[in-house]
Amino acid sequence: MPPLKCSARDPTKSESTTSDCATVASVPEVTRVLSCIQPTGSVHLGNYLGALVNWVSGQHESEVFHGIVDLHALTVTDQPKVLGVQTLELAAMLFAVGLDPLRATIFVQSHIHEHSELAWVMECTVSFGELSRMTQFKDKAAKREADFVSAGLFTYPALQAADILLYDAQEVPVGDDQRQHIEITRDIATRFNHRFGDTFVLPRAVHPKMGARVMDLQDPTSKMSKSAHSDAGIIYMLDDNETIMRKFKRAVTDSDNDIRYDAATKPGIANLLEILSAATATPVESLLSQYQQYGPLKADAGDAVISLLEPIRLRYKALMSDPAELTRLLAIGDSRARTIAAATLARAHSAIGLLPKA
Ligand code: TYM
Repeated sequence: MPPLKCSARDPTKSESTTSDCATVASVPEVTRVLSCIQPTGSVHLGNYLGALVNWVSGQHESEVFHGIVDLHALTVTDQPKVLGVQTLELAAMLFAVGLDPLRATIFVQSHIHEHSELAWVMECTVSFGELSRMTQFKDKAAKREADFVSAGLFTYPALQAADILLYDAQEVPVGDDQRQHIEITRDIATRFNHRFGDTFVLPRAVHPKMGARVMDLQDPTSKMSKSAHSDAGIIYMLDDNETIMRKFKRAVTDSDNDIRYDAATKPGIANLLEILSAATATPVESLLSQYQQYGPLKADAGDAVISLLEPIRLRYKALMSDPAELTRLLAIGDSRARTIAAATLARAHSAIGLLPKA
């Protein structure tokens, strides 16, 4: 158990905001990191470069927690018997990209009931107006058009705030699209701490330098997303080499045949440069001088991504061939996640002053 510190909940600030040590959670000495991914559809290059790469490197530096958030997926899933299978497939992918269950606490959200319980407290701490301003809700609700739009889709950020705050996470490694969700989590934590006393750590979002917003290869003004209408511009982690190269070669660019990094006027080229930069750990500035034509840039981006994904695909297939072992690996993080989540929920209930069970 890390030592109790009476410091501010905001780990980015050094000044203490409270003098009441008794109500303050312990701030871990090693940076505490949490991030999650939904088991909806196949994992793609945006998930990998925007989030998973940072998760894998983070496990060697920090104390990390990663959740497969199946309850979040419920906001857009209505098919029976699908989520469990997708959860196991996603677990295989997380291990295949390099997460080590002995270093990283990997858990399934629905297995830790504290997430749902704290989510209700969060719902009562966030306002209707704040939730109405969430751009992801507006986008997703609009995309579903005539489909069923669940209330869960609207209150989604409250559950996400619970995911983060339950683990006293200081850092949340995510792609750019999650910025607003981390901001609202900070607002909820701040309001709760103000109302009931210092209880939650204020987290901050951490984004990769390159790959924080991987765009669709067919529509480079939209992010690569599991919910896109067509697969043609999405590189899935399980795509074979030929498919990956074909998608890169057909990537939409522009007609001036001039290699510059300008996301506003040349989004297709900027996206290819960012992907190549992230996949080869080469700064965009160094890449610019190497290309005069679009063809070689597309081919090299395809090759770099193939080199990155091929070994992951092989490890994924091996893991999927042994479901019992996969289930065992997935169970390793469960009790550690539960212990921390239960302590935080109890702390929140006590801060509110709910009557303890006799
Ligand atoms: P999800 O499942 O949509 O995506 C998982 C991670 O992948 C990142 N990502 C991208 N990064 C770069 N370019 C893209 N095109 C791209 N598409 C996705 C996302 O930013 C994310 O980091 N709401 C979250 C899941 C969640 C969560 C949490 C995250 C639930 N609770 C607590 C962090 C902390 C989501 O839907 O991610």
